[in-house]
Amino acid sequence: MSVFETSRLILRELTPADAAFVQELVNEPAWLQFIGDRGVRTLADAEGYIRKGPMASYAQHGFGLWCVARQADGVPLGMCGLLKRETLPDVDIGFAFLERFRGQGYAAESAGATLGHARHKLGLKRVLAITSPGNTASIRLLGKLGLRFEKMFELKPGDPVRLFAIEF
Ligand SMILES: CC(C)(COP(=O)(O)OP(=O)(O)OC[C@H]1O[C@@H](n2cnc3c(N)ncnc32)[C@H](O)[C@@H]1OP(=O)(O)O)[C@@H](O)C(=O)NCCC(=O)NCCS
Repeated sequence: MSVFETSRLILRELTPADAAFVQELVNEPAWLQFIGDRGVRTLADAEGYIRKGPMASYAQHGFGLWCVARQADGVPLGMCGLLKRETLPDVDIGFAFLERFRGQGYAAESAGATLGHARHKLGLKRVLAITSPGNTASIRLLGKLGLRFEKMFELKPGDPVRLFAIEF
C-alpha cells in the first residue's frame, strides 16, 4: 500500500514479502553499529521483524517505518518513517538505507516528505529524532531537515543518545 510519493521515490507499507530486503538492511555494518542488532538472521526472522515491528505499528498508529522504493523500477532502497515509542513523549523519525544507495539524496528526499506527512496529514506539532552520539551522517541529515539538537537522553539506562526535535 502506497503512503505517498516524492519525485523519485515511493513510500509504501512493508509486507512479509520484503523479508529479503529487510534481512540485508538490518545486518549491514552501519545498521548494526548505529541502530543495533535486531537478531534477524534468517528470512523467517525478517518476516517476524516486519510483522511485529512496522506492520504492528501501522495497525496501532497508522504509521511506522515504511519501505522507500525507487519509482522507476520499484527497487527497495531503504526504510524511512515515523515511530511512537513508549520511551519517548512524541513521535520520532527514523531512516536507514542500503549502503549501495547512500549518498544520492534518497534519505533526504524521503525524510523531508515524511516530515511533511507528519505535519500536514497527521497534524503533528512536533517530531523527534534520536541518534547515537557518533552517527555523523544521520546528525548531518537531521540538521538539513531542520531538526535541532535538544539534549542527551538515556533511552535505556547507560545508553545515551542525542535527542533532536522540530516544531511545526
Ligand atoms: C543516515 C543515512 C540514512 C544517510 O543516508 P545518505 O544516503 O547518506 O543521505 P543522502 O544521500 O540523502 O545525503 C547524503 C549526501 O548526498 C548528497 N547527494 C548526492 N546526490 C544527491 C542528489 N541527487 N540529490 C540530493 N542530494 C544528493 C546530499 O547532498 C548529501 O550530502 P551532504 O551530507 O554533504 O549534504 C545513512 O547513512 C544510513 O542509512 N545509515 C545507517 C542507518 C542509520 O544510521 N540510520 C539513522 C539512525 S538514527
